[in-house]
Amino acid sequence: RTVYVNGEYLPETEAKVSIFDRAFLMADGVYEVTSVLDGKLIDFDGHAKRLQRSLSELDIAAPCTMDELLDIHRELVKLNNIEEGMIYLQVTRGAPDDRDFVFPDPETTKPTLVLFTQNKPGLADSPAAKKGIKVISIDDIRWGRRDIKTVQLLYPSMGKMMAKKAGVDDAWMVEDGFVTEGTSNNAYFIKGNKIVTRALSNDILHGITRAAVLRFAAEAQMEVEERNFTIEEAQQADEAFITSASTFVMPVVEIDGVSLGEGVPGPRALRLREIYLDESR
Ligand code: PDD
Repeated sequence: RTVYVNGEYLPETEAKVSIFDRAFLMADGVYEVTSVLDGKLIDFDGHAKRLQRSLSELDIAAPCTMDELLDIHRELVKLNNIEEGMIYLQVTRGAPDDRDFVFPDPETTKPTLVLFTQNKPGLADSPAAKKGIKVISIDDIRWGRRDIKTVQLLYPSMGKMMAKKAGVDDAWMVEDGFVTEGTSNNAYFIKGNKIVTRALSNDILHGITRAAVLRFAAEAQMEVEERNFTIEEAQQADEAFITSASTFVMPVVEIDGVSLGEGVPGPRALRLREIYLDESR
């Protein structure tokens, strides 16, 4: 695989980042995951805008313009022949000479920019989407700025392991009695013709797929209600689903051992997936 590091396209085995990089030592970095379908980037502008916002919230300088970033994405898709898959991008505050809690001088320490591709044939025609996924609930003990897409993914990663251990696919996180989001996706339920999902705030990541799906709701003759909800309310819903750049719209068929409806993906979630895939290609 050819990867990109700070201005260079290299074989992955030759790509290097300093051990003093702030992301390695302090998780001081942000990332984006953009999907590729039919060799084309999905929603690049949305991801670029959110990246800019993450960077500015953390006072990390943009490593290049968003047009240059688009060129790098396209070049990597081409070099690695990606038809379906994802592009991972990470920007860190860079590598100062030593470990220090104080931010380094941005004049001397430049941000690190890394991108690599993930080839995932069959991403759109996923078998998981036909079966639906099962989730458990876990406490949301993450920090208070989940709107910034940082690389602090230890707890989401542990959450995924808790799910695997429980014999299911993923976990929904709960804070003060209400669902925030999935370990790496936004969470929704459907009751009647209404899609319910938590409103945007610093408590959740502002999903790019979320924005698109809510825009397409009207096309599926559905209404959107953005508000807090509990696990119990979602368990009594007709359907549930998650969204992310790597799963698109993925039906959820079981929450904490309780099956939703018939325990198979519901027609509305599947319709939303279809519309999302049609419209964003
Ligand atoms: N995760 N919430 C969290 C906590 C996420 O990590 C993600 C994305 C989302 C969905 O955002 P979007 O629709 O923009 O992908 C919501 C990516 C895919 C990841 O970590 O791999």
